Amino acid sequence: MVCAPVVASSILSADWGKLGEEVISIINAGADWIHLDVMDNHYVPNLTFGPMCCHTVRKITNATIDVHLMTKPVDDTIVMFADAGADIITFHPEASKDIDRSLRLIRSRGLKCGLAFNPATTTDMLDLVLPELDVVLLMSVNPGFGGQKFIPYVLNKIQRTRNRINTINREIRLEVDGGISVDNIANVARAGADTFVVGSYLFGQDDYNIAISKLREEIHNGVQNNRNTSY
Ligand code: DX5
Ligand code: ZN
Repeated sequence: MVCAPVVASSILSADWGKLGEEVISIINAGADWIHLDVMDNHYVPNLTFGPMCCHTVRKITNATIDVHLMTKPVDDTIVMFADAGADIITFHPEASKDIDRSLRLIRSRGLKCGLAFNPATTTDMLDLVLPELDVVLLMSVNPGFGGQKFIPYVLNKIQRTRNRINTINREIRLEVDGGISVDNIANVARAGADTFVVGSYLFGQDDYNIAISKLREEIHNGVQNNRNTSY
C-alpha cells in the first residue's frame, strides 16, 4: 500500500536562532512532519540535540514529530524522546543490542516505530521484522550531517524495499532521508518512497510555501511517471 506523500522537514538546517518561528513557518507552509535528527557523537560523528528540543517543538505544534535516533545504545534515548512528545521513533539496527526489544519499547509507549538503514547497510532483516514496523527509513546520505549529496545507488534499494512493503497488507511508510531537493525528489518518489525528509534544501529557500509546493509538484510528477523504471 503506498501511503499519501509526506514532507518531513528536518530542522537540523533551520535557523536555530529562531527555532520556534521556523517550526511554525515550515508547518504553516505545508510541511507535514517535523523530523528531529538526534546525534550523540558516538554512533555518528556529530552532536545535535536532546529531548528538550522535542519537548519544545511539542509545545509549539501538533504536527507529527518524527524522531530519527542516530545514537548508541538507543533504549535510553527512546524513553527520553517518547516522554518528550515524539510520535514516531526510528533507530539504526546497528545501534541496538536487541532490535526486537527496542521496537517493542517504542510501541509500548504508544508510538510508531521504524528502522533506519544506512546507504550500504542491507535491509535483509526486513524479511523478519517488516510486519512489526510503521516506517522503513532509507538513508540516502551517510548519517551525521545535513547538506550532503544524494547517493544515487540508493534508488535501487528504495525500489526493492517498495516491492517488499507492497507484500504486507498494512500501512508501512517508506521514508528517504538525505540530500533530497526539488531536483531529485521526483526520482525518489518514482522509485517508491512516500515520505521525504528534506532539510537544507527547504531551509535554504526564501519562501517555504513556494519550496514545498514545488516539492509536492515534483512528487506528483514522479508518481505519475512511474514507468517501473529500473535503477
Ligand atoms: C543525516 C540527516 C540528514 C537530514 C536531512 O544524518 O538525517 O539527512 O535529515 O538533511 P538534508 O536534507 O540537508 O540532506
Ligand atoms: Zn534524519
